[in-house]
Amino acid sequence: MIGTSIQDAVEVLKGGGLVAIPTETVYGLAACIANDEAVLSIFKAKNRPGFDPLIVHVSSLNDLKPLVKTIPEQALKLAEAFWPGPLTLLFEKSDKVSDIVSSGLPTVAIRMPQHNITLEMLRALGEPVAAPSANPFGYVSPTTAEHVERQLGDKVGYILDGGQASIGLESTIVSVLDNEVRVLRLGGLSIERLTEVLGFEPKLTISKHSNPEAPGQLDKHYATKTPLYLSNDLEADLRERISEGEKWGIIALKKGKQFPENCEVFYLSENGDLDEAARNLFSVMRKLDEFQLSGILAERLPDVGLGKAMNDRLNRAAYRN
Ligand code: TXA
Ligand code: MG
Repeated sequence: MIGTSIQDAVEVLKGGGLVAIPTETVYGLAACIANDEAVLSIFKAKNRPGFDPLIVHVSSLNDLKPLVKTIPEQALKLAEAFWPGPLTLLFEKSDKVSDIVSSGLPTVAIRMPQHNITLEMLRALGEPVAAPSANPFGYVSPTTAEHVERQLGDKVGYILDGGQASIGLESTIVSVLDNEVRVLRLGGLSIERLTEVLGFEPKLTISKHSNPEAPGQLDKHYATKTPLYLSNDLEADLRERISEGEKWGIIALKKGKQFPENCEVFYLSENGDLDEAARNLFSVMRKLDEFQLSGILAERLPDVGLGKAMNDRLNRAAYRN
């Protein structure tokens, strides 16, 4: 059921159920972190492998303290600069965080989402929740309550509707452990903004292939069912790929190019704004996936700001063995 009742959401969570929560990045599928059975049911609902740990969502720095062994100085600096916001930090976990949440790792990923209704709900609940993105494993993340409803509607007790996600890409995951600042997943907080606060550019350890440090970062992820291809030149690639009678989907940053009439064309932004493009990307991928198309061709985005994270998602959506 979709609604805006914080009280209903809290009741479902307290009863061991799952609640879809809005955040500024994407919708999450939440359970109380202290309830192992509820947390396990997240994995079941998403068909998510047990080796892929969850992100814990808190509403204050006070919530953070009991969950971790220490708060490294750099982590505090980043949290103070960007929380609430699209940044997930890794910490050495305390015994308050079960191995189910962390998939047996000694570390736990934590963030404070920037969404009033979710922060209010967390305060009313009085404890943190574990929440991965609210999509079946491997599929595109949801940026509206309806996205969640369509795919997981029968598996969640309540969907808290907070409107369209304002950023539209999952959080950036940063580790400051081992005296090094490293980005493990590109996301809604750009490298440029991180660099501004750190005073230096963080190292990227996002391997193109499975990254053992961020176990959920599989090559094939964030994918549509319709085969998707990443393109440096939409018009030329389309001419090359399209066969007689085929209908293709196109994802272009902005207007200006010419495509065959029977293509389904979506523009991510009126004037090429990358933040607006990020907000629309996942909805557009989902919309195109509903047509019966031979393929989807997506334009590679400029490699700056949120363009970097969008290219990462499109690359994984396009990955083929
Ligand atoms: O924006 C977001 O981060 C959204 C919203 C709901 O908060 N959540 C999200 O969760 O994207 P999920 O489960 O789709 O991705 C979480 C990823 C995992 O796949 C894994 O790679 C990484 O976070 N992760 C979690 N715990 C980790 C840990 N202890 N060490 C390294 N990576 C971890
Ligand atoms: Mg996910």
